[in-house]
Amino acid sequence: ASPLVVAIDGPAGSGKSSVSRATATSLGFDYLDTGAAYRALAFACLARSIDTSSPDAVIAQLVDFDYEIGIDPADYFVSVGGEDVTDAIREPRVTAVVSAVARVPEVRAYLVALFRQIIAASAKSGIIVEGRDITTVVAPDAKLRILLTASEEARMGRRSAEISGESAETTAKQLASRDAADSRVVDFMNAADGVITVDSTDLDFDQTVAAVVDLVRVAE
Ligand code: C5P
Repeated sequence: ASPLVVAIDGPAGSGKSSVSRATATSLGFDYLDTGAAYRALAFACLARSIDTSSPDAVIAQLVDFDYEIGIDPADYFVSVGGEDVTDAIREPRVTAVVSAVARVPEVRAYLVALFRQIIAASAKSGIIVEGRDITTVVAPDAKLRILLTASEEARMGRRSAEISGESAETTAKQLASRDAADSRVVDFMNAADGVITVDSTDLDFDQTVAAVVDLVRVAE
C-alpha cells in the first residue's frame, strides 16, 4: 500500500525539520527533508567551484548529481558522490547560496520528480515530507497538509540559539533575507486552501510534536 503522506511547509527557523523528524519517529513513519536536497546540490556546486548565480551552470550539475538521503528518522544522513555531507550542508557558505540554486525552475522540476519517487518507495505506513512547496507542489494530494509557523521573533530566537559564534542580529538578518528570496519562488508564508496552520509561537518542542501527531491520528 502507498504510505500516508503528511506534507509540512514553513519558513526557516520554524522548527520544521526537528519537529518533522520527531513526529516520524513517534509514529514509525519515514521522514524526507527536502531542503537537504537543495542544500546537497548547492554543496555539490561549491565543491566544483560552480558559479551558483548562473542558472545554466547549476543546471549542468544535475546530469551527474549523485545524491542520497536517509529517510529512516533513526538513520538520517545526506551524501553527495558517496561522501557524507550531513553536517557540511548546514555550513553558512552552503546556506548563503542555496536560495540561488533552488530558484532555478529546472532544478525544482528535477528534485520534485525525485521527491515523488522517494515518497512512492517508502515502505512504512506513512512519511512526513517537509519543505517549502510540499503542500502545494510536491504532494498537493497529501492526506494531511500542515503549515508550521511561528512569530518572526520566536523563529529568530530559536535559530540564533542553535548557531554559536554568530551574533543574533546577523542570524536574524540572514534568516529574513533567505525567507524573502525563497518567498519569491514559492509561497510558504500563507496556508493554501485545505492546509492546516500550526502556530508554534507559544508551544515548546514537545507540544509542537504532540500537536502534529494528534493531527496525523485524526487524518489516519
Ligand atoms: O529547509 P532548509 O532551510 O534546509 O532549506 C534550504 C533551502 O532549500 C531553502 O532556503 C530553499 O531555498 C530551498 N527549499 C526549497 N523548497 C523546498 C525545501 C527547501 O526551495 N521544498
